[in-house]
Amino acid sequence: MGNLVDYQQQQTENSNNKMISDELLNDQIKPYSPDEDKTAQLITLFDKISAHYDSFNNVISWGMAHIWRRKAVSFLKPFSPKKMLDIATGTADMMVVMDKILKPEKITGIDISAGMMEIGKQKVAKKQLQTQTDFLVQDAAALTFEDQSFDAVTIAFGIRNLEKLSQSLREINRVIKSGGHFLIIEVNQPEKGIMQMLYKLYIRIYMLFVTGLLDESDYKYLTNSMSAFPRGKKLIQILQSYDFKLIKLKRFTFDVCSAYLLRKIN
Ligand SMILES: C[S@@+](CC[C@H](N)C(=O)[O-])C[C@H]1O[C@@H](n2cnc3c(N)ncnc32)[C@H](O)[C@@H]1O
Repeated sequence: MGNLVDYQQQQTENSNNKMISDELLNDQIKPYSPDEDKTAQLITLFDKISAHYDSFNNVISWGMAHIWRRKAVSFLKPFSPKKMLDIATGTADMMVVMDKILKPEKITGIDISAGMMEIGKQKVAKKQLQTQTDFLVQDAAALTFEDQSFDAVTIAFGIRNLEKLSQSLREINRVIKSGGHFLIIEVNQPEKGIMQMLYKLYIRIYMLFVTGLLDESDYKYLTNSMSAFPRGKKLIQILQSYDFKLIKLKRFTFDVCSAYLLRKIN
């Protein structure tokens, strides 16, 4: 496994000035049409690719997604969360890992794609998790839970997809208990140099073999959204402005993926 960097980030003064507008970030990268609602397009995309998602995710993560999930989820171990919410739960791999490592009482998974969660439900049933699980079709920007319902909220490979990022971050903060935790795992397409060249080549070659599984537009969205989303310091600043304090940041595998553990500070 590659170069792991683990360090405490110096916290900066939290400005009440929210650092993003949705228009600047996630709104712009859409799978199919620039004019139509992004969330509706994402439902179409993820419902369509749900049966192949696990293998695609495995490939774009260099086969490391399971390891990254396990390492990141173990950050939460000292806090023993009992009630957990997994946002953009998709095919429920986070639920499986959380059950194994944290053994919480209950994990609720939410996602806009019923198709992705259908695969997730089958997986959870097959693996016979000890944890009680629940799957709900919901948008991260409009959660139906009461304030302070969860000890910890997680989102793996999902934050870059959220159309209404600022509203979603407000909602996530609202449903976390005071002092509770927020764990983010996200891939970053290498920005430059040899790693970027190798990565692009690798994806291209893979695409030659799986033509028919994903359309060009699906593949383009999944990879373009990676390079467009803020990472590292920039993302941390955004999260601080939504009342989260960084506790731990880990970069995995030559910075291809990062995990951020944050605490709700209000
Ligand atoms: C790349 S998949 C990640 C799945 C899973 N968390 C994992 O670890 O593999 C992204 C998921 O985000 C979901 N998603 C996109 N926008 C969403 C939103 N606004 N609210 C909830 N889920 C959303 C998609 O439906 C999709 O299942």
